Amino acid sequence: MIRWLLLILGLQLFIGFLLSRDVNAELTFEERVQEARRILSEVPLIDGHNDLALSLRETVKNRVQDFPFDKNVSEIEPFASLSRRTDLVKLRAGLVGGQFWSAFVPCSTQYKNTVSMTLEQIDVLRRLIQLYPNDLQLARNADDVMAAFSQGKIASLIGIEGGHSMDSSLAVLRTFYNEGVRYMTLNHVCNTPWSDNSKAEDGHGGQILESDGLSQWGEVVIKEMNRLGMMVDLSHTAYQTMLDALRVSRAPVIFSHSNARAVCNNTRNVPDDVLRNITQNGGIVMVTFVNKFLSCSNEANITHVVAHLNHIRDVAGADHIGIGGDYNGTPSLPDGLEDTSKYPFLFAELLKDSRWTEVDLKKLAGLNLIRTLRKVEEIRDLLSNEPPWDVRIPEQDIEAHLSCVSTWH
Ligand SMILES: *[C@@H]1O[C@H](CO)[C@@H](O)[C@H](O)[C@H]1NC(C)=O
Ligand SMILES: *[C@@H]1O[C@H](CO)[C@@H](O)[C@H](O)[C@H]1NC(C)=O
Ligand SMILES: *[C@@H]1O[C@H](CO)[C@@H](O)[C@H](O)[C@H]1NC(C)=O
Ligand SMILES: *[C@@H]1O[C@H](CO)[C@@H](O)[C@H](O)[C@H]1NC(C)=O
Repeated sequence: MIRWLLLILGLQLFIGFLLSRDVNAELTFEERVQEARRILSEVPLIDGHNDLALSLRETVKNRVQDFPFDKNVSEIEPFASLSRRTDLVKLRAGLVGGQFWSAFVPCSTQYKNTVSMTLEQIDVLRRLIQLYPNDLQLARNADDVMAAFSQGKIASLIGIEGGHSMDSSLAVLRTFYNEGVRYMTLNHVCNTPWSDNSKAEDGHGGQILESDGLSQWGEVVIKEMNRLGMMVDLSHTAYQTMLDALRVSRAPVIFSHSNARAVCNNTRNVPDDVLRNITQNGGIVMVTFVNKFLSCSNEANITHVVAHLNHIRDVAGADHIGIGGDYNGTPSLPDGLEDTSKYPFLFAELLKDSRWTEVDLKKLAGLNLIRTLRKVEEIRDLLSNEPPWDVRIPEQDIEAHLSCVSTWH
């Protein structure tokens, strides 16, 4: 009798153990969303790329006071039609704890007024942050991000999208750093005189590789970024540029908004060999919500995002992933992730899979980015005795554009 009782008790314990391993799968949708919200209230969710600054330019010509940032802009025209993805109501509902705001200006500004327009985008971001001191706080380093988060504010970091913004001048790069810029994407959809973009890789739009990745001077740009403590962002770069940057950079690199090529074969996504190198390098790939880079079509949903996260996790590891939504930078977003209020639903979806532990989800949300940023700061400190790089781009690298360049000294 006792034996039977013990056997039954043992069986019950065993079954209980089996069930507990998949405890999250047993939760209802509502319970998983609640769990996701708890996790995102404990660590900052840091998104790698948001183009709100571009929307400010397009909708209110950078008059920040005319943009109803603290309202749900989905209910106010013309913002509802033009830029409904990002506002304070949504960011708060989405539990966003940190945001890289992009001071993007398009490739059409290259060799023109690209520097002044980039400074205008940095200026509009700095003014937005100033206008909402209870909600936004400028972050210049990892400690700033954590401090802002602990005060209930959205840590606001600035990134530049496209090396064309620095107009082949290391002095401009340093000035951007002093203005708070903490990453530069080496390219947007054009080559610079020193770095090849992803479209050149497959001849898209007639573009070709011009520097075979990074030119020699492009390697100097990476070294100066390492010395400054500005993160090297490889989204939008050509495969050869990725390899060159990984070889030259002493600090970890990031992909601020890119997915996995093995899942969707687009040159904007990261090949597996580069993912493996990212593990050695210590950097991260921040998965983006652009349908074309998720499903290689115009339609996508949360399942596609999860597929990319799982693949990058399998190849690079759970320490090397993050999220870079590209809100306000793309018209086509996955079903279920239409705006910046939706992040908790992605985490709720991941909670179905017991492989995604709470620790993993916290790393994905922001701790991996914090670790990467701290390492970049460590390398900066290590190089603090080195003088600024002081070498001009060789004239032959820009000779096709010399008519746009003053030759004054
Ligand atoms: C914003 O407004 C839209 C339209 O009324 C609504 O569907 C959405 O739920 C609102 N978002 C938030 C975060 O309140
Ligand atoms: C990438 O990793 C491979 C082996 O995994 C290694 O041979 C190669 O040197 C690495 N390249 C860079 C640029 O780190
Ligand atoms: C992606 O497509 C290119 C060009 O068609 C091909 O060379 C490459 O092997 C493909 N990569 C993957 C991961 O399928
Ligand atoms: C996403 O779409 C795919 C079909 O492309 C479908 O199989 C999957 O169930 C959808 N996921 C969700 C969460 O709706």
